[in-house]
Amino acid sequence: MGLGVVGGGVADALLQNPSPVSERVGRAVNLRRVLVRDTSRSRDVEVPPGLLTTDAGEILDDPEIDIVVEVMGGSDPAADYFRRALESGKHLVTANKEVMAKNGVDLLELAQANGVTLRFEASVGGGIPIVGCLMNELAANDIYHIRSIINGTTNFILTRMALQKAPFAEALAEAKGLGYAESDPTNDVEGIDAAYKLTVLATLAYGRRFRPEHVYRQGISALEPQDFRYAEEFGFAIKSLAIADIQDGEVQLRVYPALVPAENMLGNVNGVYNAVEVHGSLTGRVLFHGMGAGRGPTTSAVLGDLVATARLMSRETSLAGPRHFKEQAAVRSIGSVFTRYYIRLIVADQAGVLAQIARALGDEGISIASVLQKDTDLESQSAEIVIMTHPAQESFVQRALLSIGNLEPVRRIGNMLRIEE
Ligand SMILES: NC(=O)c1ccc[n+]([C@@H]2O[C@H](COP(=O)([O-])OP(=O)(O)OC[C@H]3O[C@@H](n4cnc5c(N)ncnc54)[C@H](OP(=O)(O)O)[C@@H]3O)[C@@H](O)[C@H]2O)c1
Repeated sequence: MGLGVVGGGVADALLQNPSPVSERVGRAVNLRRVLVRDTSRSRDVEVPPGLLTTDAGEILDDPEIDIVVEVMGGSDPAADYFRRALESGKHLVTANKEVMAKNGVDLLELAQANGVTLRFEASVGGGIPIVGCLMNELAANDIYHIRSIINGTTNFILTRMALQKAPFAEALAEAKGLGYAESDPTNDVEGIDAAYKLTVLATLAYGRRFRPEHVYRQGISALEPQDFRYAEEFGFAIKSLAIADIQDGEVQLRVYPALVPAENMLGNVNGVYNAVEVHGSLTGRVLFHGMGAGRGPTTSAVLGDLVATARLMSRETSLAGPRHFKEQAAVRSIGSVFTRYYIRLIVADQAGVLAQIARALGDEGISIASVLQKDTDLESQSAEIVIMTHPAQESFVQRALLSIGNLEPVRRIGNMLRIEE
């Protein structure tokens, strides 16, 4: 289902003679039907016209079809097609993070109830094999945290802003020009796509039900070129991180731009690359790094799932692979995050301002690690103050920022970013 960027790669592999999938499975895997919206559209992959259909029923109701590969995207009508496929005893392979984030556990249970498999390696990290590793190879670990860069578009924009000190709008226009950002980039730049992927990863890591609404989310559009300059002066890069961690049995999920030490592995993931760092109780830290999108990497993940499914079908083993998800874990609010903070303020260039700001922070028990005063603008008589705090709890920092915003000499809070070390 779907013959776009990913579907084209999958169809191409299946139509080669001999197909690499058939060779690896050890018996023929044939492409029987391809669902599209418009059969007359010209395409970059040659598919015999007789295979194309706009009627999902020709796939879902065909008893000869064993495995459905869904690479259309979106939750409607995909989620409905998932249910119909699983209920009619078809195995499913998908790249769809949205459906897996919103309905993943229910669909996995439906697959199990129907004795079929549902695989979704391509839904997170493109060609990086993180889904299967969390489910299998890392299954013996308690996962202390996952820290990841899982949206290539955002990482490309942030890399451009850092290298060229370019404004957000300019870096976004470049990403669109290169085909890395869609015409409506909201899902990427507002962290929605990353929140879907983090929901999938957290569900697997903690064996619990999570939903995208559990993820605290902050986009990257408010970042300004000077944030990158100051971060660099302090020895940090700015990255949009998707983080899951657990404390006293409570999970915290968040997607936001954060300062990462420049020498840290995640601080060096640039352009459209993705990376996922998993901290396991037995493994310690493990880092996955690679291409998070594009035809080749995503096709690799889909075909890997297809080969695994077809191989299992050839054996007389139970296909469902029981996996139990407990009810949802308690989810901690963003206010409970404990870290250091970068705060940039635009203030009137007058004596005593810093003392007032320090007092507002001190009133909430927050101490300052270092301060920079920059860019005095003679005309508007304003200056920029950059503060790096010592570790503090976020709810106290938010309260202090409210007081600071109300101080007479403070013209604007430029940005507040967390520091993830
Ligand atoms: N592109 C990537 O690098 C990448 C990476 C990881 C995961 N993914 C995921 O993979 C999936 C597919 O992405 P893509 O980039 O390949 O998308 P795409 O290029 O936009 O292709 C979507 C395909 O699905 C078909 N389609 C869409 N809605 C349909 C409907 N309601 N009924 C029938 N056919 C429909 C389209 O048909 P027409 O051709 O007739 O319009 C098109 O062939 C998404 O879930 C995406 O999140 C993509």
